[in-house]
Amino acid sequence: MNKIGILFLAFACLAGTGCYYDSQEVLYGLPQNVPCDTTNITYSGKITKIINANCSGCHSSTTSSLGNSIILDNFDDFQKQINTGKLIDDINQLPKSNPMPKDGTRLNPCDITAIQLWVNKGTPNN
Ligand code: HEC
Repeated sequence: MNKIGILFLAFACLAGTGCYYDSQEVLYGLPQNVPCDTTNITYSGKITKIINANCSGCHSSTTSSLGNSIILDNFDDFQKQINTGKLIDDINQLPKSNPMPKDGTRLNPCDITAIQLWVNKGTPNN
């Protein structure tokens, strides 16, 4: 490759989303770099924060027009969706699921683990 080609590649890497995406993947592959507290996971403690940060933009009572009218404002709302058994697949973005969050960015591994542990514990509120 000539000099211009190399320059172009370097620029595309800096300007484009390719390298940014790669580094996210690398980060996501190394959850041990992020402290992940998996003790005593409850809806009121941790799960509600995950939903507020990642889901409420499309699934609150004021935004649900973006989320197919599905509202996740409180414990009962979220428990009902978890109990369908589909939401865990959606959050893990498995094939044949409805990947959530809808924009394609998976929750970080710590949040996915927290939701899975919460389900395993029987979805406690407090
Ligand atoms: C950008 C908007 C958006 C975000 C953010 C979002 N959703 Fe959704 N969600 C939708 C839409 C739109 C649908 C309707 C189904 C579809 O289009 O795939 C949906 C459907 C659902 C469903 C029903 C899906 C099914 O399999 O029947 C659940 C449950 C759900 N979302 C939960 C969540 C959770 C939990 C989060 C956060 C982790 C989230 N969503 C984030 C837009 C969103």
